[in-house]
Amino acid sequence: TMDQFIQGLMDKMTLEEKIGQLNLPATGEIITGEAQSSNIAASIQAGKVGGLLNLKGVDRIKELQKLAVEKSRLGIPLLFGMDVIHGYETVFPIPLAMSCSWDLKGIEQSAHIAATEASADGICWTFSPMVDICRDARWGRIAEGSGEDPYLGSRIAEAMVRGYQGDMKGNDQILACVKHFALYGAPDAGRDYNTVDMSRLRMYNEYFAPYKAAVEAGAASVMASFNTVDGIPATGNRWLMTEVLRNQWNFKGFVVTDYTGMAEMIAHGMGDLQQVSALALKAGIDMDMVSDGFLGTLAQSVKEGKVTEADIDQACRRILEAKYKAGLFENPYKYCDSKRRATDIFTAAHREAARKLARESFVLLKNEKQTLPLKKSGKIALIGPLANTRANMPGTWSVAAVTSKYSTLLEGLQKAVAGKAQILYAKGSNLMYDAQLQKNACSFADETRDSRSDEEMLKEALEVANQADIIVAALGESSEMSGECSSRTQLEMPDAQRDLLKALLKTNKPIVLLNFAGRPTVLTWEQEHIPAILNVWFGGSETADAIADVIFGDYSPSGKLTTSFPRTVGQVPIHYNSFNTGRPLAEGSWFSKFKTSYIDCPNEPLYPFGYGLSYTSFSYSPVTLSSTTLDKQGSITASVTVKNTGKYDADEIVQLYIRDLVGSIVRPVKELKGFQRIHLKQGESQTVSFEITPEQLKFYNSNLEYVYEPGEFQVMIGPNSHDVKPVSFTLK
Ligand code: IFM
Repeated sequence: TMDQFIQGLMDKMTLEEKIGQLNLPATGEIITGEAQSSNIAASIQAGKVGGLLNLKGVDRIKELQKLAVEKSRLGIPLLFGMDVIHGYETVFPIPLAMSCSWDLKGIEQSAHIAATEASADGICWTFSPMVDICRDARWGRIAEGSGEDPYLGSRIAEAMVRGYQGDMKGNDQILACVKHFALYGAPDAGRDYNTVDMSRLRMYNEYFAPYKAAVEAGAASVMASFNTVDGIPATGNRWLMTEVLRNQWNFKGFVVTDYTGMAEMIAHGMGDLQQVSALALKAGIDMDMVSDGFLGTLAQSVKEGKVTEADIDQACRRILEAKYKAGLFENPYKYCDSKRRATDIFTAAHREAARKLARESFVLLKNEKQTLPLKKSGKIALIGPLANTRANMPGTWSVAAVTSKYSTLLEGLQKAVAGKAQILYAKGSNLMYDAQLQKNACSFADETRDSRSDEEMLKEALEVANQADIIVAALGESSEMSGECSSRTQLEMPDAQRDLLKALLKTNKPIVLLNFAGRPTVLTWEQEHIPAILNVWFGGSETADAIADVIFGDYSPSGKLTTSFPRTVGQVPIHYNSFNTGRPLAEGSWFSKFKTSYIDCPNEPLYPFGYGLSYTSFSYSPVTLSSTTLDKQGSITASVTVKNTGKYDADEIVQLYIRDLVGSIVRPVKELKGFQRIHLKQGESQTVSFEITPEQLKFYNSNLEYVYEPGEFQVMIGPNSHDVKPVSFTLK
């Protein structure tokens, strides 16, 4: 059995070799091809390495695996981990975008395709899914998660774990790593790596669910977050890593730090490297990514009695178990089949799946006078800094992207119209004016920067626009303006692009805004002035074709927001599942003295959670309940009939919300509890039913017990979190 095998192996291991298994060094120098002569090669042979991080290329990986297997004393294979976040060479939309598809099958398939491609290139472990709930668009890493909702976030977390791992038998299935445990998406002021401080009630009821769901779906590993939780960095937080993760959730896999998270505890003020490394081990960390804390100090800490050999054994055993489950002891080269490199990566089928998910992820925010879809005729002016760039298509964390293989939007539209319409192009502006770019400290974010003057670019754009029947403006952020360490305090379109839009408006031609973004953009001005807005996020390698599919009407948009779009940055953090407060503002009113409100802005976001338009229209019947009472052992069915009342066949995402009216603690005004993606042809209707059981009504009470409480509940079913009407039932 696995236990016997691992015990047998551990009986042969020295303390140093055990500590070696806990070490996950960076491989920067290996990527530049110095593997054989580097210290890492020597460390591998000396049994001081448990795995390697972000090393790309099956041949290099094979070479190092060989070193471990043939040249180290015990021949223990290495884990090769990588940030395969939303695809590999076939890049899927950024996770925030993917979540807006609400397409669990499609998302699971994307993870399986990512695993297939990454494993064909030697990788057996991905640092994904990232499941951090986020309510603050300032935080750049909102791009990597599934938005603000714990229920949807949990379903997506499970789907991704299943997609990556399957049963771990095939060489196209890889270990998942749920991250960043915990609460990484709630840093003060949206600034990356900043302090997190929240009540345990909020943790349990609002933030923990997706991590727990991923663990229960069998995620092989967990990554600790950089932030503090309850005053202690997550990496050194025993309550979090042992009490919650292992004792309460029964997690059996291994925990890795996030990069230098262990050494970063020195800056947090938790002690020197030896102290923080011992703290992390005692807390429940098994593997040290990059800090050299375990490798450098644990032996000494054993001598000084600060940690025990049993502590080290426990972590070592968990790493070896992961290697065993990945099948590496049976075949260390399971993921090193170089032939697969040529056949399994960037295939037509993978690209088709990515294109489908990309078009499902776009969210139509506005479509006045049916500006969209466009006809494939006449002259279309494609204008904007995102219109003719390849590098900006995949989005943040696309480590294996080969952007030269991807189309620009301009190429995609040209291909789609196939000569039937004329696509005219002008860049129009850079992403930002020079002065703003310097102030934003993000010159890195605009590699396509044009050296022409702003006036010259604008002049060209107006000439092009004036010749056209319609303008498609491709504007927004560059790939690297969201993602890690890309927090922003301003969420509006940068001035250079806003000025371009204003100038284009003066041509009196209809404008379609394609908003490229890794986070919610503040689009209050655009909502007022631009007739059509399609939020396209970063759609991955197939972005260009997917946008063409949607804007020319071959596919009706169906994406629904998984994060509220604020009217102004002053509204963040903002989310739909809030509490009522003791002084609620009446629905629809802006301000009322001594009610919870702003004097200068409504409380409601510009676009709420769950919102997204279609080319067609849907009508919803009133909600019917199979009974108005629910017994503890029973269930009731809530149904609604949805009809496609417009002129396009289309998908709709039907959403179920529930409100617990009276509780022992305050309860949210609504919480998503179910959803269904349906397809309706023109004129077609369908009755959509949801089963409601007491289990779905549970929450953590003040004693952190997971319970339901009898009383009255409201059920709401609708097209988004705002446009719903409640009906009631009583839980006996
Ligand atoms: O997996 C990532 C993490 O999300 C951020 N820090 C680095 C890790 C490894 O690359």
